[in-house]
Amino acid sequence: MKTTAVLLAAGKGTRMRSRTPKALHPLGGLPMLRHSLEALAGLTSAPPVVVIGHGAEAVQAAVGASARCVVQAEQLGTGHAVMQAAEILAGQSDLVLVAQADMPLIRAATYQRLIETQQANPGAFSMLTVIAEDPRGFGRILRKPDGSVQAIIEDHEAAPEQKAIRELNVGGYCFNAAWLWASLERIPLSAKGEYYLTDLVRIANDEGMAVQALVMDDPQETIGINTRVHLAEAEAILRARINRAWMEAGVTLVDPATTYIESGVRIGADTVIHPSTSLRGQTVIGAECVIGPNTLIADSQVGDACTILASVVESARLERRVEIGPYAHLRKGAHLAEGVHMGNFGEVKNAYLGPGVKMGHFSYIGDATIGRDVNIGAGTITANYDGEKKNHTEIDEGAFIGSDTMLVAPLRIGKRARTGAGSVVTKDVPDDTVVVGIPARAIRKLK
Ligand code: UD1
Ligand code: CA
Repeated sequence: MKTTAVLLAAGKGTRMRSRTPKALHPLGGLPMLRHSLEALAGLTSAPPVVVIGHGAEAVQAAVGASARCVVQAEQLGTGHAVMQAAEILAGQSDLVLVAQADMPLIRAATYQRLIETQQANPGAFSMLTVIAEDPRGFGRILRKPDGSVQAIIEDHEAAPEQKAIRELNVGGYCFNAAWLWASLERIPLSAKGEYYLTDLVRIANDEGMAVQALVMDDPQETIGINTRVHLAEAEAILRARINRAWMEAGVTLVDPATTYIESGVRIGADTVIHPSTSLRGQTVIGAECVIGPNTLIADSQVGDACTILASVVESARLERRVEIGPYAHLRKGAHLAEGVHMGNFGEVKNAYLGPGVKMGHFSYIGDATIGRDVNIGAGTITANYDGEKKNHTEIDEGAFIGSDTMLVAPLRIGKRARTGAGSVVTKDVPDDTVVVGIPARAIRKLK
């Protein structure tokens, strides 16, 4: 049967107390609604339709090309929200899956089972429920003697004995499409001035069309996000899921409780990750690396067998067997070739360090190209900024930069050249030449 999907994401999320629309609050490093979009991808024949409203422009940008958006100008309830998708979807499928962007932990397999439940249901629709001790403000499920759903009672409308019901509406539905598009306009206005999607249960029953419930077995999937407390709970569950998957794939996490791996990250087998480490964005880590403790890596590529101790690595690339830290900082455009060693208190930005370069202590290398096997002495600085623009430094292979050298760019240091300790180099140094002093002058040729 052909299935299409609607994702509800127009709400403000008042209980988040935020200027950011709820659907955009980050979860596992992604805007919340991207988790639902990922779960829905592959279940439907056409891209889902996302109902947007609060912060429409920003939400649309986060949706990108992965779905189509419709705007719900006024947030008049979940029933009204689904109605906005009718123009695009009515007549397009046999089934319509409806999901909520504030239920980001529901897995694709669960939505798939919901679709299968409705495929076997000749009635109006099927819905996801959970049995839980904490009702979390969810709608309560009333069942008929035959086991089908009689009604959903919203939390604020529930009588005390109904509040005691432990079966809850999770907020995932799969509808007979023709029935849905014909029935939405029959939803009555609630006392709160909203059109509740959940009222479709009564409408179906009035017509003798059954509503079936699929009880979810993993209550963790049903953590919905209404407040920032829920957001933190969901983050912890998502983190545990991701961490478990990496451990099962052959990565050692010494302390999963303090290991933060975003969903876009990839890690090779036999890599060991020590405590208090965050791996973010589109980071790729090779095999047999040792990462952390106390390390942050974002949007970077790390080759096999690298060691990164207590360091910050952002938008950088490390080839194989690079060793950095403790307290190294790689910034955008840092590219360290095979076997580079960078010790404590070094910073590299927009620079290539060739194979085997050693940069042991307290250095800044920015806007530079460093050749193979160059030694960068303690305290070396590329003075790359002249107050107006950034200038480039080139240090050719085998050069030896003495401790505390200032390299005033633009500058080229020739092959195997040497600078004396404390020199301030303002002019290009030819190959095989030793310079010393302030400003540095050649004192000797090595060949
Ligand atoms: C809803 C259900 C409740 C269920 C709970 C589970 C209704 C009336 N109630 O309640 O039974 O237990 O979800 O998660 O459906 N939205 C729009 N436009 C609107 C209103 C909401 O797009 O006009 C979106 C929101 O952005 C959100 C979702 O629909 O993603 C649910 O809205 P929310 O207000 O959070 O509903 P709940 O009170 O949680
Ligand atoms: Ca909600």
